[in-house]
Order: sequence, then C-alpha cells, then structure tokens
Amino acid sequence: MHSITRFKTHAQGLEGWLAIVDGLTVGHIFMQEEPDRRIKFLDAWIHPAHRRKGIYRSLWETRWTYVSNMYSGYTVYAWCKDSSLPLLLEKGFTTGETCTYVEKKIVGNTSGPRVPVTC
Ligand SMILES: CC(C)(COP(=O)(O)OP(=O)(O)OC[C@H]1O[C@@H](n2cnc3c(N)ncnc32)[C@H](O)[C@@H]1OP(=O)(O)O)[C@@H](O)C(=O)NCCC(=O)NCCS
Repeated sequence: MHSITRFKTHAQGLEGWLAIVDGLTVGHIFMQEEPDRRIKFLDAWIHPAHRRKGIYRSLWETRWTYVSNMYSGYTVYAWCKDSSLPLLLEKGFTTGETCTYVEKKIVGNTSGPRVPVTC
C-alpha cells in the first residue's frame, strides 16, 4: 500500500506529489501554474517495480482533486506518451498536437579555432 505526500519546490509555480511505499518514494507527478490561467501537468513517473498497480491513477486523482478545489476555470494541458494518454482520455481530455522525439550527437570541432593567417 502506498501513501501520497504533496510538496512544493523553489521553481515558481511548480509543485508535485510523491507516492511512498515502506518509506521509499516510488513515483511522482508534478503540475506547474502558467500565465493566462493555464496549468501544465508534467513528469509522471512510477518506478518499474511498482507499475500497473494503480499508483499513477492514485497520484493523478489526488492532483485532480487539488486543482478542482484551487483552480476552478483554469485550463489544464499535458504532453502525453502512449502510456499516460489513456488515463487523460478516460478523464475527458481532448487530443491536440502530436510531438515527436528526435536526437543528434554533437560532434566537436577538432580543427581548432579559425584565425586568419597574417604572416
Ligand atoms: C506511465 C506511468 C506513469 C504509469 O504508471 P502506473 O502506476 O503503472 O499506472 P497505473 O497502474 O496507475 O495505470 C493507470 C492508467 O494509466 C494507463 N496506463 C498505465 N500504464 C500503461 C501502459 N504501459 N500502456 C498504456 N496505458 C497505460 C491505463 O489507462 C491505466 O488504467 P487501467 O489500469 O485501468 O488500464 C509509468 O508507466 C511510467 O512511469 N512510465 C515511464 C515514464 C512515463 O512514460 N511517464 C509519462 C510521461 S508523459
């Protein structure tokens, strides 16, 4: 069985909830208040050994109760992965843009600084 603890951070408007099992944190979720009465839900993570036991759902419901009490009239949004999207759809969120992860390794410039030859 897990317990849930709310915490605040020094980053403006960023706060979160921890899921704790036997004194050890096993997961977290965050939210951030933004301008124009908007709230971003972000960074949901549950330790792999504790997944598919309803901990994310439980954190999500706790956060939702909090925003429902504190932020009536605000718009909530999130960028979801395949694993987090179903719960938000179940809760009545509508889909918007899709975002694709890309990456590239930076290759350092080995030719040294480019200086004009003057002699
Ligand atoms: C996504 C994540 C937070 C889910 O945590 P979890 O505690 O295992 O989720 P829950 O058991 O509470 O499941 C709640 C709901 O989420 C959805 N869900 C959870 N894992 C899923 C998966 N692997 N694929 C599809 N849907 C999933 C389901 O709708 C599920 O409801 P159901 O159990 O009634 O089917 C967890 O897998 C994780 O930390 N993944 C890595 C980080 C990540 O991808 N975070 C999302 C960032 S946007």
